[in-house]
Amino acid sequence: MATLSSTHCRSYSPLPSSSYAPSSSSYLCFKLGHRQRVSVSSGSKRFLQAKVSIQSHTNSGGRTHDGAVTTTVAPIENDIPFKKLKDGLLSVSSSDECKDAMTFDINENEPTVSITVVGASGDLAKKKIFPALFALYYEDCLPQQFTIYGYARSKMTDADLRNMVSKTLTCRIDKRENCTEKMEQFLKKCFYHSGQYDSPENFAELDQKLKEHEGGRVSNRLFYLSIPPNIFIDSVRCASLSASSGNGWTRVIVEKPFGRDSESSAALTKALKQYLEEDQIFRIDHYLGKELVENLSVLRFSNLIFEPLWSRQYIRNVQLIFSEDFGTEGRGGYFDNYGIIRDIMQNHLLQILALFAMETPVSLDAEDIRNEKVKVLRSMRPLQLENMVVGQYKSHTKGGVTYPAYTDDKTVPDDSLTPTFAAAALFIDNARWDGVPFLMKAGKALHNKRAEIRVQFRHVPGNLYNQNFGTDLDRATNELVIRVQPDEAIYLKINNKVPGLGMRLDRSNLNLHYAARYSKEIPDAYERLLLDAVEGERRLFIRSDELDAAWALFTPLLKELEEKKIIPEYYPYGSRGPVGAHYLAAKYNVRWGDGVDQ
Ligand code: NDP
Ligand code: BG6
Repeated sequence: MATLSSTHCRSYSPLPSSSYAPSSSSYLCFKLGHRQRVSVSSGSKRFLQAKVSIQSHTNSGGRTHDGAVTTTVAPIENDIPFKKLKDGLLSVSSSDECKDAMTFDINENEPTVSITVVGASGDLAKKKIFPALFALYYEDCLPQQFTIYGYARSKMTDADLRNMVSKTLTCRIDKRENCTEKMEQFLKKCFYHSGQYDSPENFAELDQKLKEHEGGRVSNRLFYLSIPPNIFIDSVRCASLSASSGNGWTRVIVEKPFGRDSESSAALTKALKQYLEEDQIFRIDHYLGKELVENLSVLRFSNLIFEPLWSRQYIRNVQLIFSEDFGTEGRGGYFDNYGIIRDIMQNHLLQILALFAMETPVSLDAEDIRNEKVKVLRSMRPLQLENMVVGQYKSHTKGGVTYPAYTDDKTVPDDSLTPTFAAAALFIDNARWDGVPFLMKAGKALHNKRAEIRVQFRHVPGNLYNQNFGTDLDRATNELVIRVQPDEAIYLKINNKVPGLGMRLDRSNLNLHYAARYSKEIPDAYERLLLDAVEGERRLFIRSDELDAAWALFTPLLKELEEKKIIPEYYPYGSRGPVGAHYLAAKYNVRWGDGVDQ
């Protein structure tokens, strides 16, 4: 009998009925006997890799390092669901079908998943992790058998944790139907254990509690390290020694920062690998979980019109822009030790750049994609100080309100030179991108909050309409904008004729505006990434060689900035940032697209 397993997630159903999108998280489970279950999965919820895995309750069979029991079996040619899966034809069952299937086939031996949020009392846990877990629960994306544990030093009871979680429910679900009812059900699955991060005994107590919930089933355990980096290793050591799963997988999500330069990052990786295998480590970069960053590869590799243009031949420059309209208030202590280059550029923007610029991967498999990203990172030209501008915000009064300077924060030294803004010109020295400037700009306390990718194309050679554009041909070039946030959109600037008898040209946008096109809200990046970690999908997590390459690019420049004590260019809170960023772009004949286009 074939049934849908509980990991079906309705939130990823293809939207338009005409879509050929694969069956997202469909897991088809075929019972072989009372002890074994074969699950045919699409590899992950969004990909058709037709992976076949055997989960054996006897624990025989192959196991990956993280303890998942997997093996490859020959496709069952006559099996209709598998064939459909292979062909990408299997449509996603409606959530009702899924629920029906689950209610008549709740297997008492279903493996459990326990998610422990280490640092549960902290800001990230409250703001992002618990709301994301609740959203996944609401969408029926979590496995049937799951438990959530909060772990931190703060003294709290289960009730206190539940109270905290319910108060900080700021996620997209809070206005949805049955939210209160679902919330109550969710909270019943949440528990708390107070302990030290360096105490194997306290983690052993947690282990005991987890075992009680797991009730002797195959237990899979996910630890989310939502704690400052100085306690990562202690926590991993104790979790791995005292609380890892005895018969299922154990995975650890590690939050950034992964070190602050090549040496400290390598030391962190080395220390983590004393206790974990690489495939147990899920280094999170939440920008990779953002919907439009996910869409980047779809846009490029499944539209004939883009991929042929994706090179130095047609692209003049690429811009990666991040801005926030608030400062580092409340996080000054952390930020002063890192600065904007480490906080945003070396990870979020560089990851987007690598995805944008990579060659076509062999498949959508995590390793194939990450192999291509690493090649991009390793082809990058060493960063030069003259290709970098740094800034720091200063106090500014506007409309009777005074906004603080970065150094007004009590946790920041008065003479801090830490950049809160940076702009850089980067180059990829390979055949595809030779000579194309990739301009990055990231800043805090600017005039708006946005993240976008701008692709400016070359001008049309011998354009018949040149005379309509005046002397500046670059003003008339096409530009593709991928607005990651807010108000997600992909638009292409084109030239067109103004209707009428004359011949006046105009610039217009061909616009895919998500809010207008799709009624369903966009999941938070943390939802996608948490689900991926539960499913063992590593594509959106950073592999250690990617991390090494990213640090190798930025470390020499960071050292030079710090050794030479480069003074940042000061810019008023709420402004567009230092003027130096414009000079840097101009050096490469580039105009920042966000200056013209709001
Ligand atoms: P917090 O500073 O809020 O710390 C989380 C918890 O860790 C605290 O509640 C505290 O719990 C414990 N803790 C804090 N400092 C120490 C310390 N010095 N020694 C031992 N325990 C300590 O961190 P966040 O929640 O803001 O962030 C968690 C991780 O996520 C960090 O690595 C951060 O860099 C990263 N991150 C955070 C983002 C955010 O928006 N907050 C965004 C992106 C990444 P208790 O005292 O109860 O043990
Ligand atoms: C985090 C940075 O990684 O990303 C923060 O540490 C920044 O400084 C945040 O504010 C931005 O994330 P988002 O998803 O709000 O754009």
